Amino acid sequence: MRCHWVLLGAVLLLGAIDVTSSYNVWKLARANGNFAFSLYRKVINGAAGENVFFSPFSISTALSMTYAGARGNTANQMSTVLGFRQRRFNVHATFRATLASLNSPQARYKLALANGVFVNTQFSMFPTFTDLLASYYSAGFKSLDFDNDAQRSADYINQWVEQRTNNKIKDIVTADGVQGSPLVLVNTIYFKGDWTRRFNDAESAPFHVSNTNTISVEMMSKTGIFRYAANHHLQCQILELPYDGYRVSMYILLPMATEGLASLESKLTFNAVTSALANLRRRRLSVGIPRFGIDKQLDLIPLLHSMGIVLAFNTAADFGRISSLRPLFVKDVIHKAFITVNETGTEAAAATVVAFYNSLPMKTRGSGTTSQWAQANAAKST
Ligand SMILES: *[C@@H]1O[C@H](CO)[C@@H](O)[C@H](O)[C@H]1NC(C)=O
Repeated sequence: MRCHWVLLGAVLLLGAIDVTSSYNVWKLARANGNFAFSLYRKVINGAAGENVFFSPFSISTALSMTYAGARGNTANQMSTVLGFRQRRFNVHATFRATLASLNSPQARYKLALANGVFVNTQFSMFPTFTDLLASYYSAGFKSLDFDNDAQRSADYINQWVEQRTNNKIKDIVTADGVQGSPLVLVNTIYFKGDWTRRFNDAESAPFHVSNTNTISVEMMSKTGIFRYAANHHLQCQILELPYDGYRVSMYILLPMATEGLASLESKLTFNAVTSALANLRRRRLSVGIPRFGIDKQLDLIPLLHSMGIVLAFNTAADFGRISSLRPLFVKDVIHKAFITVNETGTEAAAATVVAFYNSLPMKTRGSGTTSQWAQANAAKST
């Protein structure tokens, strides 16, 4: 069984458009949506037979903060892959508008995003960079001794993440991972919403993984009026499941053919999905979906590298908007995500960590035969 809850992030973003009705917020949603579907295809490549779940918006936000520090080709590669470059708008100001509209403490559901900047006590950054993260990303700053007390620094970051994800995301960094790092950027996102109407208690029912493999799952059910469509371009059925308050929804895309998932995935784009969602109609339906939970960790560097972000991860990176220290490059991009879906609703959380590094370990220093990407990878695994 592989599910499509990956759409959560993109869908949450669409929700933001109603309230701000700003053209730039739409442009950013498009950029993030296109990035989300491209990344989705990379993620499923290495996940045959597994469920996948991640928050593309958490990843976009953490990478956008990283991009704020980049210059030259390092910045160009990032903005191309993140979809900012093609659209010409003020990325950071638009993130501020989007984050402000998504964080809605008054809503009937809970949706909270947070950004943290953890700085080595020995590392000094340009005020232009710290001001940007503080004012556009509402980032909180904390200085930590990554050189001499990596364990305590890692514990501090992990606790910061746990507190903002209702303890659903734990141990996202290790002492080894942050040892000697000048700077660690973190995004968290947390969602909890109840269905507008509860599902009936789950009962065992068959679920078709393929034409020849059927498993038994806990299937929850309800009958009522739903927004729904059979989409012929995507060859799937689409169902909207709104959360209490009717401002955010989960969308389920179910392939028409039992083995139609791969074909559906190959057609998922921001345009295809937004136009499919615009064509939903109210209909009386009996709905059955499995209750489920997914926990997932992703090492994003190989995926982002294959999408075209190359310079940021090696010693030739130019993060000259952060500081004058050289070489300064990204050593780790880690993502963890969690979701549980049951009769009452959904709880989901994710965090993305971007850890910088500023020198190579002795054993790879000066090796002229390996590429810089390989060197950065070696630095990563030591
Ligand atoms: C559904 O999960 C939430 C936690 O996300 C929990 O509080 C709630 O009790 C669960 N509901 C049922 C019916 O199991």
